[in-house]
Amino acid sequence: MEREWSFSTKLLHNKWKVDRHTGAVSVPIQHASTFHQFDFDSFGKYDYSRSGNPTREALEETIAALEGGVRGFAFASGMAAISTAFLLLSKGDHVLVTEDVYGGTYRMITEVLNRFGIEYTFVDMTDLEAVAENIRPNTKVIYMETPSNPLLKVTDIRGVVKLAKAHGCLTFLDNTFMTPALQRPLDLGVDVVLHSATKFLAGHSDVVAGLAVVKDEELGKQLYKLQNAFGAVLGVQDAWLVLRGVKTLHVRLKQSSESAAALAAYLTRHPKVEEVYYPGLSHHPGHAIQRNQAAGFGAVLSFRLADEEATRTFVRNVRLPVFAVSLGAVESILSYPAKMSHAAMPKDERLRRGITDGLLRLSVGLEDLNDLIADFEQALSFVNERSSIPAR
Ligand SMILES: Cc1ncc(COP(=O)(O)O)c(C=O)c1O
Repeated sequence: MEREWSFSTKLLHNKWKVDRHTGAVSVPIQHASTFHQFDFDSFGKYDYSRSGNPTREALEETIAALEGGVRGFAFASGMAAISTAFLLLSKGDHVLVTEDVYGGTYRMITEVLNRFGIEYTFVDMTDLEAVAENIRPNTKVIYMETPSNPLLKVTDIRGVVKLAKAHGCLTFLDNTFMTPALQRPLDLGVDVVLHSATKFLAGHSDVVAGLAVVKDEELGKQLYKLQNAFGAVLGVQDAWLVLRGVKTLHVRLKQSSESAAALAAYLTRHPKVEEVYYPGLSHHPGHAIQRNQAAGFGAVLSFRLADEEATRTFVRNVRLPVFAVSLGAVESILSYPAKMSHAAMPKDERLRRGITDGLLRLSVGLEDLNDLIADFEQALSFVNERSSIPAR
């Protein structure tokens, strides 16, 4: 019997390891936009690069294999992947969405899809009863993001899938924070897995890309039709960059996750930090579910200081992380959800969801852990003691 390779081996030892024509150990970048038709009456495998391109196809097959799906699709951004998947919906359909969804997805649903007659409800997906109560006869999709952004709330994927199947709905899951290295939603019954490949999959803050994967051939045909019709495909240079990044996914995520766990523990003990959100902490409400459905806790955590002034002081003084939107890179990235990822959300809505003015999100990179802790220690020392007393 052929040995089933482990995930880290599969990242390197796969169909795309060696180019069959030249022996090249890197996927060739095929720039052609169009392909000569050798036969008057029929196209070859490729005809036009929006419809199919060998370099993009290598990435699409790679992500499909890693997620355990049958078809993958590469898009110009994570939002292009998510938006194209939403085109599976029609006027009059309803989508049930996790409450602390990525801000760009929130904008797409509330400002674009609504104009096409697609209804929506946001719900706290940690609460399965609330999910069940909000399913309507016209609900076609239940949309999950777990762990969620930026509060790292954990959704019970199996539980939501069960409800969705009972009501004939599809499930979509944004797997950006976990990647297939840690979480394989298709194995848990999810229908469409979505990624901002800009993040951990590519991993180097140098490309914007999106991916979608399905395990059902028929759904794959529908999504392919939409990818070709809408046309937001990933360029070949960018597809190559994602393919290169994916080769080191396992080692990057392993080290970053270990450091994230240690930093979360350190921040939990720090008197100036009011709250730490990381599913790896044993007191995190989603800890047991995360353990049960994923192979790790990931490299992203959030923490809350007293107020905006405290976060400003911290950000001014911290030296190692870049202060930027995005996550999932070799360098640590610190971001301020209130003015960055969730700027598109109305303030009262944002506060209601717990994305307060003192919240910072950290994506842990590959810097030495002791250096990171030392840097955080010195930056926190500048945070005003008085301002960290929680308002009564
Ligand atoms: C969880 C999540 N999903 C989707 C996106 C959108 O991806 P992109 O920026 O590649 O369009 C992001 C981007 O930050 C994200 O964090």
